[in-house]
Amino acid sequence: MTQPTGPATRIAHVGIALSAIDAQLPFYRDVLGLESVPVNDSDGARIVAFDAGGSLVELLEPAAADSPIGRFVAKRGGGIHHICFAVADLDASLERCRAAGVELVDQVPRIGAEGKRIAFLHPRSTGGVLVELTES
Ligand code: CO
Repeated sequence: MTQPTGPATRIAHVGIALSAIDAQLPFYRDVLGLESVPVNDSDGARIVAFDAGGSLVELLEPAAADSPIGRFVAKRGGGIHHICFAVADLDASLERCRAAGVELVDQVPRIGAEGKRIAFLHPRSTGGVLVELTES
């Protein structure tokens, strides 16, 4: 069995920005029946996460208007904010992205939610989706 060679090995989470988590909780929790998973708030957002088969759905509510999620919600009224891929080697993946000409938001990994090393890639290089890479 060969190991995956691409930078992305699995979806760690999908971040959905919305103005009020509580208004959407019944859909994700009760209608879809997803189990909630405790995660820390981060990047100026309140986060409620659900386990969807090993990947998380993260509902992101701005804690402040002047935050990345706050600006996104103000501009677009909510929606998919980013997709996070867990990769085996973040440094190697980031280097592969750089070599391929992918526009990096974070030139080097930084510490994100849950104390994990992360890096964002610009939507201009990814088909219009903000992509986060994290270590699996
Ligand atoms: Co994220």
